[in-house]
Amino acid sequence: MRDQDMDHGDRKVFIKSYGCQMNVYDGQRMADVLAGQGYAETTRQEEADLVILNTCHIREKAVDKVYSELGRVREIKDARAGEGKSTRIVVAGCVAQAEGAEIQRRQTAVDLVVGPQSYHRLPELLERSARRRVVDTEFPVEDKFGFLPAPDRARTLARGVTAFLTVQEGCDKFCAFCVVPYTRGAEMSRPVARIVAEAEALAAAGVRELTVIGQNVNAYHGEGPDGRVWPLWRLLARLAEIPGVARLRYTTSHPNDMDRELIAAHRDLPQLMPYLHLPVQSGSDRVLAAMNRRHDARAYLDIVAAVKAARPDIALSSDFIVGFPGETDADFEATMDLIDAVRFASVYSFKYSPRPGTPAADAAAQVPEPVKTERLLALQARVEEHRQAFNAAMVGRRTEILLERKGRHDGQLAGKTPWLQTVQVDASAGGCRIGDIVPVDIVGQSTNSLFGRIDSVKAVA
Ligand code: SAH
Ligand code: SF4
Ligand code: F3S
Repeated sequence: MRDQDMDHGDRKVFIKSYGCQMNVYDGQRMADVLAGQGYAETTRQEEADLVILNTCHIREKAVDKVYSELGRVREIKDARAGEGKSTRIVVAGCVAQAEGAEIQRRQTAVDLVVGPQSYHRLPELLERSARRRVVDTEFPVEDKFGFLPAPDRARTLARGVTAFLTVQEGCDKFCAFCVVPYTRGAEMSRPVARIVAEAEALAAAGVRELTVIGQNVNAYHGEGPDGRVWPLWRLLARLAEIPGVARLRYTTSHPNDMDRELIAAHRDLPQLMPYLHLPVQSGSDRVLAAMNRRHDARAYLDIVAAVKAARPDIALSSDFIVGFPGETDADFEATMDLIDAVRFASVYSFKYSPRPGTPAADAAAQVPEPVKTERLLALQARVEEHRQAFNAAMVGRRTEILLERKGRHDGQLAGKTPWLQTVQVDASAGGCRIGDIVPVDIVGQSTNSLFGRIDSVKAVA
């Protein structure tokens, strides 16, 4: 017996992604595979025949969000049922991988639970789930990337002029706080040829900026066209040769995989943007050791210095966890010192969240919640000072922006500087379009944006 509604072509899918860029990319790949089944994407859940929550397991809050969202999705499913319409609910992503069948015990309306390594099986799993509820959290032997269709030109264009491209997945580092090695599995790298083909298709459809992504992207070691293992810097150099690719970025990196050649690429590859996201988590050597990060604060600062020597205008960003088990006031001060030493352009900061199955979750010396909150607020205030100073230093300067979307007000466009700052420009001067890279004079600043004036309407690339 086949699912009745498998056969007509005007069905709609609503996909909501939580968590990291990998999930954003995966959400797009799921949309691509479902397009082949006649599903069009919608941003309105009420009209969706298929709802996919693409979930994140990194912190407890992220998981709580999924269950409360599932409650809402169920209400809509029930309301639609009253109108004679059926709705299928899918939970994908890292919560699916980590919790499996538990999800359907907690929310019986869920038809299918599918882990990140099985997205290429979605059509078949959906068909099976029409008969009874299905859970697939295997790590299949086949590589899903070999089966997931590339996006077509129209969908790529609709997604904009910047794109993520997964080149590496999984993690072998096992930081003591982190679920990723369990939810995404062991490190794997896609072959260079596949990545290049996907990047060429993206560029041909109008993508100007590619961000290659991986949970540990600088551990990339994919098979090159010459049969050798290529590290990330070689892959980046190859991607830079693709016509139309004006800007390259990569994320997320681990300090221990920042090798000399990759650092040199920041000097040698003009397409590689002067911005590096390099999570450090803490500035305390004691905490770094307990986290199993396998480097100390000095090593991190040395890498930052080497990167700056290669590319003096590079900006850095990072991730921090406050309140890791055993973190003292002195440890936290060491973190603040590191923050003052680097002066990051941007920072993501989190209160430590104990995750089931990770070593740190069982540590005795858990830090009380109010202390975590106090430290988080102090850290964020310091980081915000640095961020504002970094943005203020742009005012009065000329730079180039990639125009990415419509701006805040009519007649405005919004673009990004090489340092990922958003710039609002008045586009009524004419001549420039989304996808152009244009010179701008930065004339002002608000909390989250810069304001620019386009002098010459001539695109530079
Ligand atoms: N692979 C990347 C990041 C993975 S998760 C890396 O190695 O840095 C993104 C960020 O979430 C981490 O950098 C960390 O700051 C945060 N994070 C991960 N596990 C966490 C936990 N249990 N509690 C709080 N924050 C966490
Ligand atoms: Fe998690 Fe550490 Fe791997 Fe990053 S390097 S994904 S923080 S285990
Ligand atoms: Fe979250 Fe999984 Fe990404 S846990 S951060 S969605 S790899």
